Amino acid sequence: MEYTGALALLRAGLGKPGKHLADLSDWASIGAICESSHWLARRMKNAISDATLPVLELGAGYGSVTRVLPPSTVSIERDTKRFDALRVAFPDRTILDGCAMPVLAQLNTPTVVISSIPSINNPEFGRLSAAIARGHKTGMIAELITYTYFPHDPFAGIFPNSKMAGLELLNIPPAFVWRYSC
Ligand SMILES: C[S@@+](CC[C@H](N)C(=O)[O-])C[C@H]1O[C@@H](n2cnc3c(N)ncnc32)[C@H](O)[C@@H]1O
Repeated sequence: MEYTGALALLRAGLGKPGKHLADLSDWASIGAICESSHWLARRMKNAISDATLPVLELGAGYGSVTRVLPPSTVSIERDTKRFDALRVAFPDRTILDGCAMPVLAQLNTPTVVISSIPSINNPEFGRLSAAIARGHKTGMIAELITYTYFPHDPFAGIFPNSKMAGLELLNIPPAFVWRYSC
């Protein structure tokens, strides 16, 4: 089985230390050591309970989660380098560049939101959380799935149903998957 996450990166990094050191400092600025593993991505996707609803992905990065989501998924990434890479990797997908928050405010149908936007060390997280709460109140966010590297519930108190849907050990670092629904 091919590992498309951290181990592949570290293996590649051994050959090109300069390049990957630069990339690592880049990753630090977005709240993760490296892209999510294939296993974490699958766990996020499998947490979706209503496959008939449209899917909106926030913070697609280089597409490790995007890859396993339905082709009709709309993905958002505001970092230009990552957005450009996504457009090349997924030419048939709808990829939006820019901030996720205004897009959440424009939802006009009940949607499943898959978010990889960090909740820790992210000064904007309060605004994201408020945008999610508004989306839930208007009925436009039917389900929300996210992950954290610590066992803390990032969107506690917003949705009537909130639970830790699993712990994925095959990820660096291991990650908790959270699922919220009405
Ligand atoms: C931790 S990375 C996750 C990348 C990938 N989805 C994964 O799981 O490996 C978070 C991504 O969210 C993006 N991001 C952070 N805040 C954002 C926002 N407000 N709107 C859109 N993208 C955002 C960052 O640029 C970064 O690529």
